Formats: sequence, C-alpha cells, structure tokens
Amino acid sequence: MSLVDDATEVRENAHAPYSGFKVGAAIRTASGRIFTGVNVENAAYPEGTCAEAGAIAAMVAGGETQIAEVAVIGDAPDPVTPCGGCRQKIAEFARPGVEVTMANLKGDVLTMKIEALLPHAFAKAQMEAGE
Ligand code: THU
Repeated sequence: MSLVDDATEVRENAHAPYSGFKVGAAIRTASGRIFTGVNVENAAYPEGTCAEAGAIAAMVAGGETQIAEVAVIGDAPDPVTPCGGCRQKIAEFARPGVEVTMANLKGDVLTMKIEALLPHAFAKAQMEAGE
C-alpha cells in the first residue's frame, strides 16, 4: 500500500461538515512508521485543523520527529496542495529533499520537495543571534 493509499483510506474519517471538503494526510517517518490525520472542522470555524496538522500531532505523540515522506489527498479538480501553515508545520520536521505527494480522487498526482513548496522557510537557525 502506498502512502497515498493510507491518506485516501483515512480521509473517509475527516470531520468536514462545514466545507464538505474532506482531506486525508499520511506521513512516513525515518523509522518507517506511518501516521495519518484528517481535517477536523468546528462550528467555531477558526478552531478547525488541517489533515497534515493531525498527522504531525500523531507522529510527535508517537515519539517520532523525522518525516521521510508525506501524502495529502482530497476530492479536488487538481492535486490538493498543503496550505501555507501546513507547509511550515511539515518543514519543522522534514529535511530538504523530503517529498510531499499531493493527490486527488481522480488519480492526479503531483510530487514536490518540501523546499520547493516552502522556499526560504522560517527555521530555528534564524533565531540565533546575528551581527
Ligand atoms: N485542508 C486540509 O486539511 N489540508 C489542506 O492541505 C488544505 C485544506 C482543510 C481545511 C478545511 O477543513 C478544508 O480543508 C477546507 O479548507
């Protein structure tokens, strides 16, 4: 089973009664474990969370912090691309070179490296004192 298959399967469990747009995400870590997540919307709209954020939270709770690969899928005309905030969240745990595979239910797939999805990402190194 591919990582996109994992994301597709978990997507069914998304809680998206407001947008009607279910998203599934799956992460494979450096150790080979798979963590999944779905978007979880809320009647107080800003409290909703993205599928990628759910998968990352599950990964960290599971004691892992090194993303090896990510997959995201939704029912869209084109492959579903992570929102800006989720790109930053992925970059926290993904070294340059990590591939993010974006997909839709029609079978369209787009794979990009995290540094292409989020060029010049803000990172810990920037908080080191300069001069
Ligand atoms: N959404 C995700 O879960 N991940 C993405 O990459 C794009 C957007 C969710 C948030 C919201 O529940 C719904 O899709 C519509 O924006």
